[in-house]
Amino acid sequence: MKRNLILAPGPTQIPPDLCAALGKPIIHHRTPQFAQNLKDVIDGLQYVMQTKNDVYILTSSGTGAMEAAVCNLVGKGDKAITVEGGKFGERWTELCKVYGAEPQVIEVKWGTAVKPADIKALLDKDKSIKAVFVTLNETSTGVVSDIKSIAAVVKETNAVLVVDAISGLGVIDIKMDDWAVDVIVSASHKGFMLPPGISFVAMNEKAYKLVEKCETPRYYFDLRKSKKVYNDPDTPFTPAISIVVALVDSLRKFKEEGLDKLFARYAKLAEATRAAAKALGMTILAGDDCVSNAVTPIVLPEGVAGGKVVKIMRDTYGVTVAGGQGYLKGKIVRIAHMGCVDEYDILTGIACFEKALKDVGYSFEMGAGVKAAQEVFNS
Ligand SMILES: Cc1ncc(COP(=O)(O)O)c(C=O)c1O
Repeated sequence: MKRNLILAPGPTQIPPDLCAALGKPIIHHRTPQFAQNLKDVIDGLQYVMQTKNDVYILTSSGTGAMEAAVCNLVGKGDKAITVEGGKFGERWTELCKVYGAEPQVIEVKWGTAVKPADIKALLDKDKSIKAVFVTLNETSTGVVSDIKSIAAVVKETNAVLVVDAISGLGVIDIKMDDWAVDVIVSASHKGFMLPPGISFVAMNEKAYKLVEKCETPRYYFDLRKSKKVYNDPDTPFTPAISIVVALVDSLRKFKEEGLDKLFARYAKLAEATRAAAKALGMTILAGDDCVSNAVTPIVLPEGVAGGKVVKIMRDTYGVTVAGGQGYLKGKIVRIAHMGCVDEYDILTGIACFEKALKDVGYSFEMGAGVKAAQEVFNS
């Protein structure tokens, strides 16, 4: 039997108890039972986001929440800042353009993080900028942005800070209220260990004032509709009920473990993965100052075809990791450690990575990666 281990950055593995929760008989969404589930979900997401702000639940993948943020905050002719240091930063630019906004793009070398001072310089120059769109964990490059410092810059202005935390939330620390982040978007199928299907938009008062003023035509993702029924609590349209129900159990795990322990656990998995890659003679795309604890971007040696390695790992050995995107296609392998992943999964993933590297003819000391990872876990 071939195992099916997912070490890709979403969708992530679903633990058996959450599979069972997903399989519960459906309940109707306009009932007190479902309202209680929604209440628990909002409460749990507020815990993970470290906020008292409203958290709206949408029925979509993560991009839907990104689109909701854009079309509720900016419109035709509005100025915005976007940061392009990877595929998902580019998505903010594309969304802004679709809704007629005018993004001023900060281009960042892939593998590095945006400098908060560069955001400040643009905001100082143009006081009419309404929103700054950034990415917590740029999944395509394994780079984490310094959201705390960016927020410190943006909070001094009239602009709102919108953070795509789709692959970072519940894996990497983000303190919405303490740091003054105005909007966080995220989704169910990464750190939360559930299938794709629901997304979240958390928003403070400063951002909601923009929502009320925003004239962009919108319907399904009109957050005024979510706000109207928020305190019931209810959703304006039929939600992905089963995922909301299972999310209650997922979020309970976060509270039971506690955020500090949770972040430390992922940090260890990431450290072990990086150590393994280095022991195999490889480098990490992201610098030490910004490397992600959610996904490790491993730069393959010249001549090793990344696409082949990923395919062999998946089709021959049953371990799914991700290859590179954009210009990094074929050049990197991304091993994720988010959601339901433990040290034995990482050791299996590394062992399988070694087997695939052997299969493509890369010469190295077999077992060196596993040993390096073991040493981190034993430290
Ligand atoms: C950082 C980030 N933003 C946005 C997305 C897009 O999310 P979705 O594919 O759920 O629409 C992803 C998905 O991988 C992501 O990692």
